[in-house]
Amino acid sequence: MTLERVTVLGATGSIGTSTLDVLGRHPERYRVHALTAHRSRESLLAQCRRHRPAVAVLDAEEDAAWLRGQLAEAGLATEARAGREALVEVAEAREVNTVMSAIVGAAGLLPTLAAVEAGKRVLLANKEALVMSGALFMDAVTRHGATLLPIDSEHNAIYQCLPVDHRGGLVRHGVTQLLLTASGGPFRGWSRDDLVRVTPDQACAHPNWSMGRKISVDSATLMNKGLELIEACWLFDARPDQVQVVVHPQSVIHSMAAYSDGSVIAQLGNPDMRTPIAYGLAWPERIDAGVEALDLFRIARLDFEPADEVAFPCLRLAREAMAAGGTAPAVLNAANEVAVEAFLAGRLGFTAIGELVGRVCDECPVMPADDLETILEVDALARRAARVRLARQ
Ligand SMILES: NC(=O)c1ccc[n+]([C@@H]2O[C@H](COP(=O)([O-])OP(=O)(O)OC[C@H]3O[C@@H](n4cnc5c(N)ncnc54)[C@H](OP(=O)(O)O)[C@@H]3O)[C@@H](O)[C@H]2O)c1
Repeated sequence: MTLERVTVLGATGSIGTSTLDVLGRHPERYRVHALTAHRSRESLLAQCRRHRPAVAVLDAEEDAAWLRGQLAEAGLATEARAGREALVEVAEAREVNTVMSAIVGAAGLLPTLAAVEAGKRVLLANKEALVMSGALFMDAVTRHGATLLPIDSEHNAIYQCLPVDHRGGLVRHGVTQLLLTASGGPFRGWSRDDLVRVTPDQACAHPNWSMGRKISVDSATLMNKGLELIEACWLFDARPDQVQVVVHPQSVIHSMAAYSDGSVIAQLGNPDMRTPIAYGLAWPERIDAGVEALDLFRIARLDFEPADEVAFPCLRLAREAMAAGGTAPAVLNAANEVAVEAFLAGRLGFTAIGELVGRVCDECPVMPADDLETILEVDALARRAARVRLARQ
């Protein structure tokens, strides 16, 4: 068997560490080419000791210099590099077959696009990249012959429930609806008044999944489900009205596809991201992910309910942004990133996240999202607009 060489973008995060866990179980199949982090140099060093990549990337030169010293002391041949260019280079490197895109937020866009344009197998966890640049991104996948495998558990589930070649729109394959499941987050059933005093630690305590802080807040506001709705539209060529959000508190069904003959196909499993990660790594084969087998008797029941878009307006805002098209999803994403950062820093209330995002979406004109320059400009513009509003609070 030839070794697959893998770059893990965002290696020190929740998805990154789960990816390394799966890779470490299959040394006969995979070799780590590069690992990247933003500032977590100690964690990256520990990962270099364990996985011995050819390259390790940090954001700042000062951190890369520190890492270089530590690697030399440990007698490791890993090259330590810094900056955005290095991120792009390890994503498109000739010797790399597979790129795990697990940087959080807009920072993941350029290296992920670079991997797509280099025709790699791209395991897409970084949903923000697709939300920002949907049409451009999917067009690049086709033009450069990249293999795009969704890692978000919901989209990975839908991917498994659709025919192998599902291009050309859902209707063509007899699919009437995609049923996107949502746990409902830690505040399911809470009213808008209850939500006003929510703290960052409460918002990050997800009932079923252990994740990074940004996505945990997104899950609590239901913006995560909104971003996923947009992601589903691009990945599966669906209209927003063909994607129904179904709150399913047990997070056992990861999503479903409904067909015109009345069949509904679901993918089930324990809530552990190593399942979709292993699926993406090995597709079309299957490998051990280290995930405990699902015990249906222990689960005993599965519940379903509609999402509450009054208490959680972010889901509606995302649907509206997708319907508006063009740069609207990029504006939504940028405003949300600024709002979540402010909430986590204690500078914005929980319910104010949706209010701020809604105001910025109203304020920024929608333009065609035909090229990367426009998307990056709009991203910067929306961040500025959000910061101005924040400063006025
Ligand atoms: N966690 C999940 O279960 C899950 C499920 C589905 C989808 N996703 C998606 O996967 C992505 C990663 O989520 P996560 O929960 O793994 O996030 P996370 O735990 O916060 O990790 C983020 C990773 O990205 C790096 N990073 C952060 N900012 C960066 C920047 N400006 N430039 C370069 N690297 C940067 C971090 O490095 P440092 O450690 O140095 O900060 C870390 O390695 C997100 O887009 C999320 O929506 C996550």
